[in-house]
Formats: sequence, structure tokens, C-alpha cells
Amino acid sequence: MPTLNSNRINNFKNSDDYRQHIHDLIPGGAHTYSKGDDQFPILSPAAITHGKGSKVWDPDGNEYIECLGGLASISLGHAYEPVVERVTKELLKGNNFSRPSTIEREVAERFLANVPGHDMIKFAKNGSVVTTAAVKLARAYTGRKLVARPIDHPFYSYDDWFIGSTDVKSGIPSDISALTVLYKSDDIQSLIDLFNQYPNDIACVISEPEKFNLLPNNYLKDAIDLAHKHGALWIMDEMITGYKTAYPGSMTKYEVTPDITTWGKGIANGFSFCCMTGKKEVLELGGIRRTGSEKLFLVSTTHGGETCSIAAAIATMDEFEKNDVIGHNQRLGQKFIDGSRAVIANHGLSNHIRNMQFNWHASLGYFDQEGQNSFGLRTLFHQELIARGILFQGIFCPHFSHTDEDVDTILQAMDESCTVFKKGLEEGFEKYLVGEPIKPVFRKYI
Ligand SMILES: Cc1ncc(COP(=O)(O)O)c(C=O)c1O
Repeated sequence: MPTLNSNRINNFKNSDDYRQHIHDLIPGGAHTYSKGDDQFPILSPAAITHGKGSKVWDPDGNEYIECLGGLASISLGHAYEPVVERVTKELLKGNNFSRPSTIEREVAERFLANVPGHDMIKFAKNGSVVTTAAVKLARAYTGRKLVARPIDHPFYSYDDWFIGSTDVKSGIPSDISALTVLYKSDDIQSLIDLFNQYPNDIACVISEPEKFNLLPNNYLKDAIDLAHKHGALWIMDEMITGYKTAYPGSMTKYEVTPDITTWGKGIANGFSFCCMTGKKEVLELGGIRRTGSEKLFLVSTTHGGETCSIAAAIATMDEFEKNDVIGHNQRLGQKFIDGSRAVIANHGLSNHIRNMQFNWHASLGYFDQEGQNSFGLRTLFHQELIARGILFQGIFCPHFSHTDEDVDTILQAMDESCTVFKKGLEEGFEKYLVGEPIKPVFRKYI
């Protein structure tokens, strides 16, 4: 095992200054609520100054192994040289023009070559934009209003159709919220019931292909067939699974062909390149070749064709195709799962810190003496890991720059943190936690 930096990180002076000022400038203090101050212990970096490989540094100069690189958007590593070189080369040629850049055709052909059954692609800068565009296409294609989504999945878009169906629906008319209907993920009967409840009204089902559990045999295929039988489209959101479960993702892993698939995190190593791919008969609705037909205003963004992000996507594909990135990442994810399970068991904490999910996105859940999900214990454990140089927010999402030594260091820090966690469990987390517990992102009240 490597030697851990024995100096506990306790200097957050510049972070505290950042925290104090940023909320006066930026509502929420960040550009996704998942990066917000209420998602981290107070003894933590408020911001990052730079990163390299698997490491990041905060404004006080503290160094961390980052476990969820760019909220799972980093698939190769920070400042990963082949990507940086490709992007730099492109930047020197200009970044945005008054007509499409020729690189758009190159990335379209490259990306689609990896996605069997899909003929067309549309780019955007954010995941929410493409999931919303996919929903719009499905409504236009079917002439129906309702969108079905799993009640137990956390996030598909900040747009009204999705966020209006969560607890955080302020600003969204209830008429809009009523257009999204809910079923239980991975439960085919629940989906059958929904189609029976709303015959001929559901335009599409949108779902991540893998979320919490190993899928029942044939689930995805059966679910897609069911949607088609009822005249609805299937939108597979591979924002997280893309470039993680397989290359390019779960649709090839399970050999299924959704009508539309949405991609984002990971496909450009943190650069802002997201896209949706799909069948021509559906995506062509957003085209301008059907002279005389009603126009569908699909995605229209000034920055959608930004060349540097597209170059990053191409360089990322190059690296995934040259190296066994998926194999490397999943091996390290499995090492984290096996190692953390052993560490947790050694401390007698198996009922209180539980491994969830998969070797491509391995998360931990925290439970108190009553078996209830505990945000206090969660925050305490993260506080202790951060103090030991591990920037952990509940998920280890391995990328190509994470090393075996990184995982060993994480596991050693977990071992030490379990001792404090156990005291918090037995004596109350408040005794050991500095500041407030973190709070759920999707909560009704601040
Ligand atoms: C499954 C899923 N879909 C869509 C999104 C939205 O992506 P973005 O934050 O790029 O808008 C996210 C973001 O976390 C996501 O996890």
C-alpha cells in the first residue's frame, strides 16, 4: 500500500473566502446543483483551480484524487494530452463560423459508425438540451402528449417536462407537470400498467438503460417492444452509461435499438459535446428537406458546432478505439468495489456503508442504526475522506488516468475514515461532523 499523506488537510482559507463571495455573484454558486456547497461538507474545497490526470487542486493548494471526474464527464483524465493537442490544433483554425465547420461531418460519421441502427445525429452543448429535443421529436412523430419516465430515476433534464415531475417544480405550470407520467424502473408490469392507463396517449418512454440493479433478462428488449406495440418511441438516455458500460454504451452491450439515444458525459472527456442519435425516420423530422411539411424547430444553438469541443470528441473516440479504456476503467471500478467491501466489513460496518451499482460507476449508500439513509453519516464519511486527500461525493467513476495506486490510496483513506464513521454511528455524527449535513439536490425547500 502507498503511504498516505499523513498531514490531514485542514487549510480551507481560500475555499472559505470563495464560498463567502460566490453566492453573491452566481445563484446557487455553481452551474449544476450537484457541484453546490450543500453537496459537500464544510471542510472541503469550494472550487478547483486545476486538474491533471486523476488529481485536482483547490485554491489553498491542497491536492486530491478526484473520484467523480467532472461529474462523470471525464473518461480519460484531466488535461489528457492527446485530447488537449487535438483541441489546440483545432482552436488555432478558429472556433465558430457562420456556416457549419467541416469537422461536423467528420464527427457525425465517426460517431454514427459506432451506433448500430442509428442513421442521424444532432449535437448540443448540454445533456438537458438533447433529452428535451428527443422528447419533442417523439411528440411530433407520434402526435401524442405524454412522456413516461421512471419515478425512481433522479434526473433527465432541467427543462419543464422533467423537472416539473419532481419535487422541485417551482416555476412550472401544473398543466405541464401533468404531461409526464411515472412508472417503476426495470419493472415491466409497471410499464404495462401505465400503457393500459393511458392508451394511445404516451409519446415516448425515456429511461437510462442501467441504473440501480442488474437488469432482468431481456428487460430492455421487452420494454422497447412493449413501447412500440403501444405506438410509443423509446428514448435511451446514455448520458452516464455511454462510454462506461461498453463502447459506445448499453445499447450495444444489450444489442437493442432504441428510437433515439442521448449521449453526453464522457464522450468528449469533459468538453461540452453532447448529442442524440436516432433512426432517420424520426430525426429527419428536425430537417429542412421535407418541403411543404410543417417545420419542427429541433435544436438550434449558436455554439452547437463549436469546433474545439467536436475535436475533443474525435480525440476521445481515437483513444477509446486505440486502448482498452473500458477494460481499464471497469477493472479499477471492480477493485474499488471489492476493496471497499472488505474494508467496510473489517470495521463491522457492512450494514451501514453499502456498495451500490456497478464497476463503471460505483457508489456507496450510508445507513444509521435504524437502517435509515443518513445524510449526516454520509457527510461525515466524505469529510474524513477529503481530509485524507480523496475528493469523494459518494461515487467512484473510474477513468483512464486513475491508477491502481490511486485505488489503493482511496481504500487506505476509507479504512481510516471508517474508524471515525463508526464513532459517529455509535455516538452521533454531530459529535464528529463540522458544519451541516449535505442535503438532497432534488428537494422542495432550501
Ligand atoms: C441521466 C442524465 N441525463 C441527462 C442529464 C443532463 O445532462 P447535463 O447536465 O449535461 O444537462 C444528466 C446530468 O446529470 C443525467 O445524469
